[in-house]
Amino acid sequence: MTDTSTPSGGAPHDGLRHAIAGVSVADLAARHGTPLYVYDAECIRRRCRDLTRPRGDDAWDTVRFAQKACSNLAVLDLVRREGVMVDAVSTGEIRRALAAGYAPHAGRRGGDGLPPAHPIVYTADIFDRPSLDEVARHGIHVNCGSADMLEQLAERMPGAEVTLRVNPGFGHGHSQKTNTGGEGSKHGIWHESIPDVMRRAEAAGLMVTGLHMHIGSGTDLAHLAEVAGTLERVARDIGRSLDTVSAGGGLPVPYRPGEVHADLGGYVALWNATRRRLEEAFGHRIRLEIEPGRYLTAESGYLVTEVRAVKMQGSRKYLLVDAGFNTLARPVMYGAYHPMTLCPGPGSPSAARSREEVAVGGPLCESGDIFTQTDGGFVATRDLPSARVGDLLVIEIAGAYGFVMASNYNSKPLPAEVLVDGGRDRLVRARQTPEDLFRGETV
Ligand code: LLP
Repeated sequence: MTDTSTPSGGAPHDGLRHAIAGVSVADLAARHGTPLYVYDAECIRRRCRDLTRPRGDDAWDTVRFAQKACSNLAVLDLVRREGVMVDAVSTGEIRRALAAGYAPHAGRRGGDGLPPAHPIVYTADIFDRPSLDEVARHGIHVNCGSADMLEQLAERMPGAEVTLRVNPGFGHGHSQKTNTGGEGSKHGIWHESIPDVMRRAEAAGLMVTGLHMHIGSGTDLAHLAEVAGTLERVARDIGRSLDTVSAGGGLPVPYRPGEVHADLGGYVALWNATRRRLEEAFGHRIRLEIEPGRYLTAESGYLVTEVRAVKMQGSRKYLLVDAGFNTLARPVMYGAYHPMTLCPGPGSPSAARSREEVAVGGPLCESGDIFTQTDGGFVATRDLPSARVGDLLVIEIAGAYGFVMASNYNSKPLPAEVLVDGGRDRLVRARQTPEDLFRGETV
């Protein structure tokens, strides 16, 4: 299922990038320093609208952003203004959603007979104690990934409505680490346990109104499409109390040259047909949700770094930049591929450059700190315009699972984040200071 009519974001073919959303990369680096995450607001809006606008007769009623992909408040505010709801997996993510202006509860049922959409849903396989307190304090809707959560919730929110996250017995992801279905995954309630879990929910006095499946991240539509059939079967077992079904997340984005966007029209049509059959079976309207993370923000994000050393190790050339896996963990965790481009630094010739095969690494004291590696940790090289110290290397399609997975390893401060909108750049998260690094520590 591919849709070649939607152009992929794609890095410039000559490998040189001078601007991000109309703002000079060199100016961004000069104003905000490097390493720097830059997000293109218009790109995020476009991706939201891909999903919020109906396609013919088919439409998602709710697009719910899996904020774990990119949870900066400015990004949450932006997607909220696009009518996108939000998922939260922790107390911190609930606080972020509230701080970005999301209401804790659903409003009233609309005239269309659809149940109201929950602005925030807490989705997890456990409640840690603070998250249970937070959910109960604000009356947040919960998507339960284990039966134990039901009794814990019932004690604090008697009579609550809940969603069940079901593990359909199969899954798929871009890496085994992002496959969230099947016996190899800890996620969700095993599909065969649903009758038992329904009895537990009823005994606890909870009403099961939602059903959710998420088989993995970075998968493809062929695998995602298999979910609809299983969800329909489980929904019929649960019965008429259901008023919402969620297809989960996992929509792919093109990272590599030549990859294209998936056929979202075909995907929503498939789910809409499932929803219609359930509506007929239950005799009432069913809300249809999708829960993407990566799709909404990946292509909007750029990690701007500075080349600080160029050296030969035997016959292999290395560019060492000022960002490492502390800044962007995906290559070291999954062997993930990110396009890279070069922006000539101040005083560096900006005309066409020769190209060369280089390995790109960061400053950390581990050999694994390499952005050009394949799954399994093997160092690979990339064909890039030849670079010198002071040039800026831009790591692209870094707006999902980029900043949010950054760490303070090697006592490196978290980078700054900037949102570019209407040709203007705005700092939306200040770079950490060295003092931030040991705040709360004592001797
Ligand atoms: N819903 C649930 C319940 C999830 O666990 C996830 C992702 C999503 C939705 C959103 O999936 P997406 O649409 O973004 O594929 N760190 C990895 C990805 C881990 C995803 C975890 N869950 C990476 O960098 O690829």
